[in-house]
Amino acid sequence: MRSFCIEGGHTLSGEVTISGSKNAALALIPCSLLTKDKVVLRGVPRIKDIFQQIEILKKLNVDVKFVDHTLTIKSNKLIKCDLTFEEMKHFRASYYFYGALLWRLKDMKVVPPGGCKLGTRPIDLHLFALKEMGVNISFCDGIYEFKATETLNNYLRFPRISMGATINALLYAVSLNKTITIENYSKEPEVFEVIKMLQMMGAKISYNEDVILIDERHQLKGTTFNVIGDRIEAGTFILLGASLGKDLTIHHIEKKHLESLFDILDELNVDYQYEKETMRINKTKSIKPVTVETGPYPSFPSDLQPLLTSYLLTVPRIHLIKEMIYEDRFSHLAELEKCGAVIKRINHNIIINGDNELHHAKMEGKDLRATASLVFIALNINGISEVKGIEYFERGYEDFVEKILKLGGKMSIVGDDVK
Ligand code: EPZ
Repeated sequence: MRSFCIEGGHTLSGEVTISGSKNAALALIPCSLLTKDKVVLRGVPRIKDIFQQIEILKKLNVDVKFVDHTLTIKSNKLIKCDLTFEEMKHFRASYYFYGALLWRLKDMKVVPPGGCKLGTRPIDLHLFALKEMGVNISFCDGIYEFKATETLNNYLRFPRISMGATINALLYAVSLNKTITIENYSKEPEVFEVIKMLQMMGAKISYNEDVILIDERHQLKGTTFNVIGDRIEAGTFILLGASLGKDLTIHHIEKKHLESLFDILDELNVDYQYEKETMRINKTKSIKPVTVETGPYPSFPSDLQPLLTSYLLTVPRIHLIKEMIYEDRFSHLAELEKCGAVIKRINHNIIINGDNELHHAKMEGKDLRATASLVFIALNINGISEVKGIEYFERGYEDFVEKILKLGGKMSIVGDDVK
């Protein structure tokens, strides 16, 4: 089995550019199916979840070209079929095909999505939105059947906030012959990227703090769209800079997507400058206790919680993180204890003791961000650590080993894939 072999304790300096956002690209690709014209997406990361999505497009007979980071999609020869492919089960974002394809296929069977195991991850809000907009849904033997009908509400209010369900609702709403109003919607940056691309394709969408208004169906056309930088990869390198950086320069960061992280850096007096999407950051000896609560945007992103946990292990004092999004995003804690970390979990609270000496260890990640947090700590600890879980890590990070080596860090991949 492959694993990361990491010699920690090395300073990171030089320049690194953040790749395109995984979670934005995963929504924009299905969005391209809302027109039969050519859509060009620039800045798409070459990572596992994107390749899974491309496999699904190919099975639907969509023309796809992926050259460097430019993905060209043309779906004029889309075939009618069910979405019960194996690949649908391998990542969470396969749910975007429901909203994006229903207007063309009218009825289809789909298998539920997969994705990292972070507790129960229902899709009830996606189903709620589709039902409100007239989709009949049944579930039998592990397969959903969707049938689009004309009997729809033109007002929907989410009972809870969900980024994926908001995007799915948008993808379906633009194809309907009625004006749709969505309330209590998610304000994650990826939602606004989808809105921006739909507007460029010709959809009439407006929004304010409380509501999104989608005008009745307009013929959508092709477009060229640039994917935003990945804020979670950016957060990873920022925290690495705060613990190991020496004039570490990070390009392609949108500060407004990460204000909650910048607030923590300011609280800890981390030495950084930010200008025009570029950040320069230095290792900073901080000694302040921190309390952080994850939540929907603009609160601190749950996806950075495991990385912040690892970072705070390097900051003396006792810190508290409250994980409010996922009921079971804690699998990294027991693994971090293997390197001497003193962490206590009480319900959704993580209490982190940053005063303890850490030592190298063998650790195993069980999901994408958990593995990232173990890689993070291994880069910070003197000596050689082993981190398993590459198969999860590769879902979300592009060229990470190459980027670290270029900055002066030491890590490699050892072992073979399991056949
Ligand atoms: C997206 O998941 C991201 N995934 C996640 O990224 C991220 O953690 C999450 O948003 C929150 O920012 C993709 O974009 C593919 P949600 P999503 O619906 O849209 C509950 C990563 O590491 N919920 O906003 O599925 C849900 O269980 C990942 O890159 C329901 O109860 O997240 C969670 O507690 C992992 N019913 C909360 O809402 C639903 O139907 C927020 O989830 C949907 C969600």
